[in-house]
Amino acid sequence: MIIAIDGPAAAGKGTLARRLAEHFGLEMLDTGLLYRAVGLKTVRDGADPGDAQAAVRAARSLSSTDLEDVALRSEEAAAAASKVGSIAAVRDVMLDFQRSFARTQPGAVIDGRDIGTEVCPDADVKIFVTARSEVRAHRRLKELRARGVDAIHGRVLQDMKERDARDAERDVAPLKPAEDAFVIDTGDMDADAVFAAALDFITSRNRSG
Ligand code: CDP
Repeated sequence: MIIAIDGPAAAGKGTLARRLAEHFGLEMLDTGLLYRAVGLKTVRDGADPGDAQAAVRAARSLSSTDLEDVALRSEEAAAAASKVGSIAAVRDVMLDFQRSFARTQPGAVIDGRDIGTEVCPDADVKIFVTARSEVRAHRRLKELRARGVDAIHGRVLQDMKERDARDAERDVAPLKPAEDAFVIDTGDMDADAVFAAALDFITSRNRSG
């Protein structure tokens, strides 16, 4: 079984993906981490994350140790990820890896922005999680503060809105729900409620199909 989870920043994709992967015994891939690693590598190479040649070079040379860097969780890495993620040639480099991961047995939960639309359009289950930007910024702020990062709500909200706009308006693989995605607005739900709603959807689908 392949479960695709998409949605904007801090909508709860990661938490839901982890819980579903545990529940069904599936492998898990956070594709945001891949784009964050390419963004960070491009910046560390001294290039602008909008520089297509430099970003493609970084994408091609990505190794598993690049995915372990704590700096990947920073808002700077998120912004750089969103810039390299707008480059079609970068997305092409990432596609093979993501698709072969999706073929891992017995299946995988993959989260990102374009999993249900581009990476795995034939996924068995597609879920799109979203919430008002204020709620999402509040969640991200809590996450950052829990890690000891001194962040300001207004700044986090503004950065997030900019990133969401860039992700949704780009020409390649824009952020949007697949036509057959189950949309969950997590704004007034806790993680347990989101998991329960997703599970309900998956079991009712399995029963009918
Ligand atoms: O954790 P958060 O939801 O804030 O972000 P993320 O999932 O780590 O993704 C960081 C950035 O990578 C996004 O804003 C996108 O621009 C980009 N990304 C993408 O373009 N395609 C994906 N499948 C995953 C992430």
